[in-house]
Amino acid sequence: MSAVTGEVKRVTTHVIQAMKSRGEKIAMLTAYDFSMARMLDEAGIDILLVGDSASNVMAGHETTLPITLDQMIYHAQSVVRAVSRAMVVVDLPFGSYQANSEIALSSAIRIMKESGAHAVKLEGGAEVEDSIKRILMAGIPVMGHLGLTPQSIYKFGTYSVRAKEEEEAQKLREDAKLLEALGCFAIVLEKIPASLTKTVSESIEIPTIGIGAGKHADGQVLVTHDMLGITKDFKPRFLRRYLDLFETIGLATKQYVSDVKKKEFPNDSEQY
Ligand code: KIV
Repeated sequence: MSAVTGEVKRVTTHVIQAMKSRGEKIAMLTAYDFSMARMLDEAGIDILLVGDSASNVMAGHETTLPITLDQMIYHAQSVVRAVSRAMVVVDLPFGSYQANSEIALSSAIRIMKESGAHAVKLEGGAEVEDSIKRILMAGIPVMGHLGLTPQSIYKFGTYSVRAKEEEEAQKLREDAKLLEALGCFAIVLEKIPASLTKTVSESIEIPTIGIGAGKHADGQVLVTHDMLGITKDFKPRFLRRYLDLFETIGLATKQYVSDVKKKEFPNDSEQY
């Protein structure tokens, strides 16, 4: 915050890059709605990712594939309205960028124009090179995503750790270099060995942001609903739960139901 104007200094791609340069870790979380985004922004989160994990977390789908571009834009609009400091990055959903670079650019432009977000994220390396180039040429910052890329879950067949074998690790190292050369401002590394994260993070100038990728990434990201314990049964080794909100909200709800049934809510001071 500026001491003179009282204005909050926004997190930009330059701020993110400077954080890597001075060795300050970057903290990123997902957000899909106004109220949650406001709490996370006020608490000092650097980047809010409007992730296509909204497909699982908000809509209850089994994978990230069903969520549409219109739905992502709706979530992004709600998040952008809440935020005064954090950078807002929005996932290009499955099907909105893979076919060709023209479709990719028009999807990215819709996100930026209709939501007011600050950047887009998309999954993949060399396969999506043309799409990344075209989006960047339009002046839209791009965050890459390598390793376990959930939009390819039916190709992988499992959510287990990626790039344990040398061939896949080598492709990931090359893809990270390619994304940097194309001009991506950061790369998410999902569920890969910590040693590979270290090598990749040391080999490129742009920041890496890990999820299940160990301590050597330049930043960390978690799905907020997992980190707060709102999702109940998802317990991968990499997840640190800071709260058990499923339990806490359940207890509060039971108390409310009981108060209503026993005619203890509302009381005299809670009515007009
Ligand atoms: O959609 C999402 O939440 C993500 C994170 C897991 C990085 O892409």
